[in-house]
Amino acid sequence: MSFSIAIDGPAGAGKSTIARMLAKQLGFIYVDTGAMYRAMGCYFTDRGIAGEELSRMAEECSGAHIDISYLNGEQQVFLNGENVSVRIRSEEAGLMASACARVQNVRETLVDLQRQLAAKDNVVMDGRDIGTHVLPDADLKIYLTASCQTRALRRFNELREKGVLCSLQDVEEDIRKRDRQDMEREISPLRMAEDAVLLDSSDLTVEEVLEKMKSLARTRYEK
Ligand code: DC
Repeated sequence: MSFSIAIDGPAGAGKSTIARMLAKQLGFIYVDTGAMYRAMGCYFTDRGIAGEELSRMAEECSGAHIDISYLNGEQQVFLNGENVSVRIRSEEAGLMASACARVQNVRETLVDLQRQLAAKDNVVMDGRDIGTHVLPDADLKIYLTASCQTRALRRFNELREKGVLCSLQDVEEDIRKRDRQDMEREISPLRMAEDAVLLDSSDLTVEEVLEKMKSLARTRYEK
């Protein structure tokens, strides 16, 4: 039986950075489910579909074939055979991912893929609905959050390091928009699972959060 760790939380809480490190240290596979929604979002953008056109998304999502593979331990995302792992990282792709994540057909397709991955290997999987919907029996569930200002500042610094020109105000506005979209949607909204452990990373370093998660994982793994 494979062991699974589900990490959910809002945009910019540090989920992917920490989940990736945790998986590496435990020797697990890291599954970044947001990357799959981002790839789906790119598919719709390429077809000229706007973020509000939910029924077109529902009709056309069967044309998007998303695959995951690993290169030197790093998750690679393929959209109809094209490696889109770099392209999906833009702010625009993030907003489009959040928009298409409201569509039932999109979610069903991607949740199937996520469950298949978790059935094969020990995984650290991060997203918005992993503990509540994708892996309700996960061995450890963590809800990782941070204040909106902290998350916006982290994202802003990340973008600046990549040479992207933007204002802190715009980044904070994007984060608020995504929070609204992810928490208020009808299907699988972002919320903390009842049996999840809450971690607020606002005043913690990456190493501190990682240590807390590792000790939680150890207690469950060794049971
Ligand atoms: O984690 P991220 O920022 O890469 O995710 C992009 C968007 O995808 C996020 O705003 C909402 C959606 N998403 C989702 O609805 N369910 C998931 N399990 C993961 C992401």
